[in-house]
Amino acid sequence: MYLTRKTGEMEKILEIKNLYVGRIDGTKILPVLNNIELSIYKGELFCLVGESGSGKTTLALSIIRLLPKSFRILSGEIILCNKKITGISEELIRGLRGKLVSMIFQDPGAYLDPLFNIDTHLRESFHGNPVEFNQLKIKVITEVGLSPEILSVYPHQLSGGQQQRVLIAMALINNPSIIIADEPTTALDVLTTKQIIKLLDQIRIKHNPGMLFITHDLNLALSTGTRIGIMYRGCIVEIFKPNKEKPLHPYTKILMGYSEENHSDISDTTLMDTKQETDEKCIFFERCPEKKPLCNRKVDFIWRDETTGIRCIKYGQNSQM
Ligand SMILES: Nc1ncnc2c1ncn2[C@@H]1O[C@H](COP(=O)(O)OP(=O)(O)OP(=O)(O)O)[C@@H](O)[C@H]1O
Ligand SMILES: [Mg+2]
Repeated sequence: MYLTRKTGEMEKILEIKNLYVGRIDGTKILPVLNNIELSIYKGELFCLVGESGSGKTTLALSIIRLLPKSFRILSGEIILCNKKITGISEELIRGLRGKLVSMIFQDPGAYLDPLFNIDTHLRESFHGNPVEFNQLKIKVITEVGLSPEILSVYPHQLSGGQQQRVLIAMALINNPSIIIADEPTTALDVLTTKQIIKLLDQIRIKHNPGMLFITHDLNLALSTGTRIGIMYRGCIVEIFKPNKEKPLHPYTKILMGYSEENHSDISDTTLMDTKQETDEKCIFFERCPEKKPLCNRKVDFIWRDETTGIRCIKYGQNSQM
């Protein structure tokens, strides 16, 4: 589905290699993302699913380089459209944001300034010249299903669904290579959610950007995603294609209701206390119903092929069990 029409080759637009992100807490650095390996291809809808606090938003904000002040990229690389964006200055990244990558946030109301009308919001987001802008703004606002009259309106005069459409228009106006949507429908009702998901999918099919869609809703991911990544405690534990294969990671199987969780010796499952913990044993060790003594050591992500893989010794390609 995400093959480029011309060559039949998959075009990689985002590549994340060995990414570690931490949060500074006094004199300590608490690990938040642990050894993330991920590529996203043109035209695909990659859904990232995981429980609250697993690091989904942190990953998204690392890509767009908008991490909160206390967060640090500790090591690893993020490459967007062949440009390495880790280690470059804020000034350079500002020029790339919007053009290469745009983000749609969970709570649209919080990202729209009540003092400015929608026309100003779109203009502030646009990287081109005023003549281009005047042509584009009508096109883009119509494309997200709003009428051009809305340009003179202020955010508080819009419904939540309309505000989210404005945010989508702002994300779309520079025709970015990748769009990140972080739970864009959480604040919306069921019907509006369906409409926004449909709109995002139409945009993807028409403009062919890569899309990273973050959601708690596994069923939504299964029905819309071309690939799904499962996050657990700062790690991606599995990447699979929902139409082609059944996931194998014990955590994914629990999420999908295929197996029961091991409740016998769960310690703290929401926070990683130390980096040593993840370096010494499988991240899912305590909760895993399939664990073996061999799992009591560091487990890296094992790629099955270029696009799918698993962070599990039992089901990895060179299975040792
Ligand atoms: N501003 C912050 N200050 C302190 N800790 C934070 C902050 N933002 C996130 N964290 C911590 O970083 C970790 C990852 O959080 P993140 O928001 O990335 O998770 P998430 O998967 O997006 O969760 P949710 O599904 O609830 O949005 C969590 O342990 C969280 O408590
Ligand atoms: Mg989040």
